[in-house]
Amino acid sequence: MPYYSDELVEEVRSANDIVDVISGYVRLQKKGRDYFGLCPFHNERSPSFSVSQGKQMYYCFGCGAGGNALTFLMQYENATFQEALEILAQKAGIDLPKQELSGKERQEADRRARLLEINKVAAKYFYAQLRMEQGQRGMEYFANRGLSPEIMKKFGLGYSNKFSDDLYQYLRKQGYEDGILKDSGLVTIEESRGGRDKFWNRVMFPIMDVNHRVIGFGGRVMGEGEPKYLNSPETKIFDKSRNLYGLNIARSSRRPGILLCEGYMDVIALHQAGFDNAVASLGTSFTQGHASLLKRYTKEVYCTFDSDGAGTKAALRAIPILKDAGISVKIISMEPYKDPDEFIRNQGAKSYQERINNAKNSFMFEIEALEREFDLQDPESKTLFYNAIAEKILQFEEELERDNYIEAVAKLYQIGYENLRKLVMHLGTRAGFGREVRSLKSGINENKKKAKEDGIKQSQRLMLTWLIEMPELFEVVTPYIQPEDFTEELYQKAAKEVFAQYENGELNPAKIISMFTDEEQQSEIAGLFHAKLLNVETKTEREKALKETIIKVKESSISFRSHHLDPSDLEGLQKLVADKKRLQELLGVRFTLE
Ligand code: UTP
Ligand code: MN
Repeated sequence: MPYYSDELVEEVRSANDIVDVISGYVRLQKKGRDYFGLCPFHNERSPSFSVSQGKQMYYCFGCGAGGNALTFLMQYENATFQEALEILAQKAGIDLPKQELSGKERQEADRRARLLEINKVAAKYFYAQLRMEQGQRGMEYFANRGLSPEIMKKFGLGYSNKFSDDLYQYLRKQGYEDGILKDSGLVTIEESRGGRDKFWNRVMFPIMDVNHRVIGFGGRVMGEGEPKYLNSPETKIFDKSRNLYGLNIARSSRRPGILLCEGYMDVIALHQAGFDNAVASLGTSFTQGHASLLKRYTKEVYCTFDSDGAGTKAALRAIPILKDAGISVKIISMEPYKDPDEFIRNQGAKSYQERINNAKNSFMFEIEALEREFDLQDPESKTLFYNAIAEKILQFEEELERDNYIEAVAKLYQIGYENLRKLVMHLGTRAGFGREVRSLKSGINENKKKAKEDGIKQSQRLMLTWLIEMPELFEVVTPYIQPEDFTEELYQKAAKEVFAQYENGELNPAKIISMFTDEEQQSEIAGLFHAKLLNVETKTEREKALKETIIKVKESSISFRSHHLDPSDLEGLQKLVADKKRLQELLGVRFTLE
């Protein structure tokens, strides 16, 4: 939650011009009133990312990312609201009052900063060791694995030498105390022997967060030995389930999607081959935290795991987690090689690209894995397999999608399409999940309902965008539309602010955005002020469109209230009747715009 007052937040925000802020990250070109560029939040070739100086907002018509300068820093720098505010305050030379952080919070922040510092110092130390005489073995190891000096530099690779306490001694000399060193996970402190390094005689992989800050390490034995990889333990700054190896680089890749692999070496080999969109988890399995992190940067993930059973298992685990986060998943096969690193070394980048092109749909991958659990020679087992398929197909809510998968699976296993479809329907009905059964029969109605809801939201967005872009419309609109007519909860909050700002003579939509500290909500609000006004060229067309929008908003408001009205609420009932009458009048009114 914000520690700062709304006034202070607004002071800091408005002291920065959004065009300046975003120009530091994205190349922008002025077109008409607005600036355009390639969206940094999704892959695209022609610019749909717009920045409006007037509104002090950005919005991507491609992916829906949007907000004010604070949102941008939150999305781009992966910053919290608080951190984004600090960055903007610094840019504008505004001192944020320190006492607004409690003593405990400040201490915590200092400790995090010191842990980051220690990891950075250690990374530099390992980096230098690798390039000195004592690092020769490490150098040879990396060279044998085909890594170029450039890629080693890019990933900051290093070496922890044979002495078992030299890093500890070095860090002590830099002034770090035992207490914080212990918390860093880089050393252990024993009563009898004093401080000892966690890593020694290993090649070192610094692990960075999306802002390129070193948060931990992986260290590999050179050759055989246990454990093969040793990783930093989780610390205050190292959360393994919320960081991914290589994402600091992959996040700004121009390649479509993200390649998700299992190993550090796979990531590095892929980047060296030009696939700079590769990432890996940190020696732990894939989590929801990883999925929501990836969701910020991509809509599509390619799993490029090891070819063995463990790799298949890892993919089967990751698929539902990614899909739940709204990411579409494809699976790349590395057969006959063990992993992407070996594949690339043997087959090269071109073949790997072909594997990407032929990546398998995740559902078909799951079905094929399922198949291995059954003996298709045995009629009983085969029947069970078909039932299991049908059950899985039921997971798709859209009838059309279900049909497409029924068709694909029927073709793959040479089952009759109609037979499989009947089986799916039968299972859906028998399962007796009320909702599921209904949606099975009435998939089309469901779609219609959804389209209607989208239409209502769209007209509410259109209304708000209009009011912001042409404030003179308030006079025309307010006799019919009030903030209460915006039926979506978030829309209504925003509308209340917009109307209040108009009353006070200071329309300022960017300010409304920072009243919400949640990034997703900020983007949604930005969307409210960036509805696309289609085909409204001439004055008559604009007048017609405006009238239609007012009517739609009013109609949906009336219908919403009739459904939710408490019968004992007389006042509400009277207002509803009055509004219905007003709507009738409205139909006959002709709007004139100057
Ligand atoms: P792999 O055993 O598949 O190793 O582990 P790899 O990446 O192919 O390694 P190379 O090519 O032999 O060097 C995949 C990942 O699992 C984690 C590491 O993150 C590794 O990159 N791991 C593996 C550990 O954390 N500890 C281990 O002992 C082994
Ligand atoms: Mn490997």
